[in-house]
Amino acid sequence: MRVNNVSLSYGGEPVLEGASLQVGSGQFVSLVGPSGSGKSSLLRAAMGLQKPFAGTVDLELPRSEVGILFQDDALLPWRTARQNVSLGLRFRGMGKRQALKKADEWLARLGLEGFEDRYPRRLSGGQRKRVALAQVLALEPKLLLMDEPFASLDAIVRTKVIQDVVHLVEKEKIAVLLVTHDLEEAISLSDVVYLLSQGPRAKISQHYSIPIPRPRDLVRARLHPAYAPLLEKLWNDLSREVEGTGSADTKAAA
Ligand SMILES: Nc1ncnc2c1ncn2[C@@H]1O[C@H](COP(=O)(O)OP(=O)(O)O)[C@@H](O)[C@H]1O
Ligand SMILES: [Mg+2]
Repeated sequence: MRVNNVSLSYGGEPVLEGASLQVGSGQFVSLVGPSGSGKSSLLRAAMGLQKPFAGTVDLELPRSEVGILFQDDALLPWRTARQNVSLGLRFRGMGKRQALKKADEWLARLGLEGFEDRYPRRLSGGQRKRVALAQVLALEPKLLLMDEPFASLDAIVRTKVIQDVVHLVEKEKIAVLLVTHDLEEAISLSDVVYLLSQGPRAKISQHYSIPIPRPRDLVRARLHPAYAPLLEKLWNDLSREVEGTGSADTKAAA
């Protein structure tokens, strides 16, 4: 996917200006930046849910091969985990029996064997997130767009869910664009991290290649010699953006 020089505004109020980034085949890319800098807006533009004021988004693959995951899972409360996962497959024309079988397979891959018949209200936050992931991954996307998808999970569950996601996207060679405000998460997961500057008129100010080898173990990634210097550099660059050179307004907002 390529985002080329995208500018976005809301009712004439500029948010992003000339933002460009690329996600290569099978590449894990994160977009980090201060709150309100326009990360979600940029991702919505990439999803085709918001029209850029200027610039273009080239998916370079069919829309049907793009999976989307937001912070709030969109499970239907009146359907079981299995039914929730099979729904998208049914929409794509898969027969009922095969869709249910495939749903069970994906639930099992996400550690939810034995929970297939549960309704969402009888699942924990981490389990619901896993069902939502199974729902998306069952459609075999080539590109996964995620907006702070793990923010609602507590630290331990979060680490486990993320580790499973990393294993699956590495195994299935799925490209990922992850929006997060968590620098440590971005570095330990990504091949490339893009930093969005403080808005209004936020720009992508820098990007960083993360030379930590794959397959990645999230805990071990943090012990890699490249990790701490990268974290320090990103943190300094981000702090400069937030304190930064913006108007008095943006400083007050930060
Ligand atoms: N639907 C909207 N209408 C008007 N302004 C919006 C809308 N969505 C976001 N904004 C504004 O655009 C800016 C960027 O928001 P957002 O993309 O959600 O940032 P982030 O995800 O980085 O926190 C913020 O100043 C926000 O108030
Ligand atoms: Mg956001």
